[in-house]
Amino acid sequence: MGSIKAFDFLLKKEKDLVGVEVGVLAGSHALKMLDLLDIKTLYLVDPYVLYRDTGTRHYNRKYEKIAKEKLKPYQDKIVWIKATSVKAVVNFKDESLDFAYLDANHEYKFVYQDTELWTPKVKHGGIVGGHDHVPTHPGVAKAVKEYCDKNEIEYKTKPFINKVVNVDWAFRRGGKLGDWEIPKGNIV
Ligand SMILES: C[S@@+](CC[C@H](N)C(=O)[O-])C[C@H]1O[C@@H](n2cnc3c(N)ncnc32)[C@H](O)[C@@H]1O
Repeated sequence: MGSIKAFDFLLKKEKDLVGVEVGVLAGSHALKMLDLLDIKTLYLVDPYVLYRDTGTRHYNRKYEKIAKEKLKPYQDKIVWIKATSVKAVVNFKDESLDFAYLDANHEYKFVYQDTELWTPKVKHGGIVGGHDHVPTHPGVAKAVKEYCDKNEIEYKTKPFINKVVNVDWAFRRGGKLGDWEIPKGNIV
């Protein structure tokens, strides 16, 4: 089963989306986006190596196989980039994406760096956002606030119950996000 995120509801009415998920793990959220949204191309960035995040060591290599298998039905819509965020981003032209969903290393410096690197890759009017704007990942809220304050960007956060409560953050590049509604009964 995939895991829908509050972020996805910002894109439900859009067509032919080209976007990126940075941090893919087992592909659960990627699968949901591909199931629910009108996606033309979804770039999937994950190095699948050992990394340290908020004091915990993660070794996610086993998830690479799971994700690749899970997302096979959508292989004509996905492009895998097995690299860190910093290395992957150089492959993208500025303003080439409709959205960037940032869910990689949740430590402050990585979230700040990812937001700073990927925002220019999103078109004006497109959406930048990410996951885990929660007290257990304090670096996320700190980085998003600092980046947005510095660049005079108005962002929002949205809690969403999907087994447990999780909170996404997002902003619209060069504009206002508008309403961020999650329709009742649409929790999958
Ligand atoms: C929280 S999980 C992603 C979950 C996924 N977005 C979902 O909701 O199904 C974090 C992932 O980020 C990846 N990651 C860690 N550091 C990274 C980096 N520097 N660049 C890109 N991905 C990274 C990890 O390998 C891990 O698979």
